[in-house]
Amino acid sequence: MAFAEKLFGSGELDAEWRKAVEVVPRHLLVPFFYRQDGAVEWRRVRAEDPGFLAAVYSDTALTTQVIDGVPTSSSSQPSLMLQMLGALDVRDGDRVLEIATGTGYNAALLSERLGSDQVCTVEVDRELARVARARLGECGYEPVVLAGDGRQGLADRAPYDRLIATCGFTSVPPAWIAQVRSGGIIVCPLGVGNARLVVGGDGRAEGRFLPGGSFFMGVRSEGGNARIPYPGDPEEAVSRETPLACLDGEGDGLQFVLSLVLPDSAWAHEVDADGARTGCRLWARDGSWAHVQGGEVRQAGPRRLWDVVERANEWWEGQGHPERERFGVTATEFRTGWWLDSPGNAVPDMGA
Ligand SMILES: C[S@@+](CC[C@H](N)C(=O)[O-])C[C@H]1O[C@@H](n2cnc3c(N)ncnc32)[C@H](O)[C@@H]1O
Repeated sequence: MAFAEKLFGSGELDAEWRKAVEVVPRHLLVPFFYRQDGAVEWRRVRAEDPGFLAAVYSDTALTTQVIDGVPTSSSSQPSLMLQMLGALDVRDGDRVLEIATGTGYNAALLSERLGSDQVCTVEVDRELARVARARLGECGYEPVVLAGDGRQGLADRAPYDRLIATCGFTSVPPAWIAQVRSGGIIVCPLGVGNARLVVGGDGRAEGRFLPGGSFFMGVRSEGGNARIPYPGDPEEAVSRETPLACLDGEGDGLQFVLSLVLPDSAWAHEVDADGARTGCRLWARDGSWAHVQGGEVRQAGPRRLWDVVERANEWWEGQGHPERERFGVTATEFRTGWWLDSPGNAVPDMGA
């Protein structure tokens, strides 16, 4: 069955993108990927291995780079990419900047849709940028592929009509707002959501979150990864009772709100033999730490992370558990702020 039909059936995908999906050879841009055997070992799956083509032409994200056991690049889930490309609302003649080249597959889809001359893409890992450029060339696409930090955008080639990012952010980099023309669109993973913002003439970009989850590798610096290292269990911690035993862990709901108001934090859930949640650990880059078990929380470090979680939960419950499409974002050169339903109704500062 044709790949686009497999992904979307007969509906919901614009004819132009449908054609791009059919034409772009994902197996040439992703000639191998890594699969985790057991909890630790990453095994390389090559074109000659059984199941390779089926995996490449399935709706699956494929890990394509692993450094020190941590995935650092992938070809994202095709249906998610196409949802984001749809939200980008490109028109013939648009110039697009992509942040996070990875394998080049998304850049190939853009090049097929708009023409290579209209597409620039930036990748933080020099070697990945070089390889993607070469593979794109072999497939007949020649977008500008540059190594650099996507947080700076690509000023030399600005302005752009559209900007799409395919690695995770917790705020909108100011450079993007400066480099996208007024009326242009930015589609970007923010927290565990994807937002679509329209750039105004007043130095702000504003818009709403798209439906569905967002599962992107976090933005990183060259040679690093986006993982937030576990600070270790503290020698001393402050204990108290908590009304919030632990989180439901669903992609939606409170976890989404927390990804906005408590950015740059990491979670590890504890489960019993039946898979039920029994507790969780939460930590941040500054060494702040919280451990929740039953009705008790222990906290340590410069910030009380669980206090933020409780405040966010209280607010979210008070609003009647709003779903993510009701949330929006306003970004300026100085800050990225969140709102519910309308820009005037800011999500309160949770004291993070
Ligand atoms: C999910 S992959 C991108 C998928 C890609 N669009 C594709 O079609 O294969 C995320 C990529 O973001 C890159 N990345 C992380 N931080 C970055 C940064 N600061 N600037 C540019 N790229 C970055 C990673 O190296 C990784 O290749």
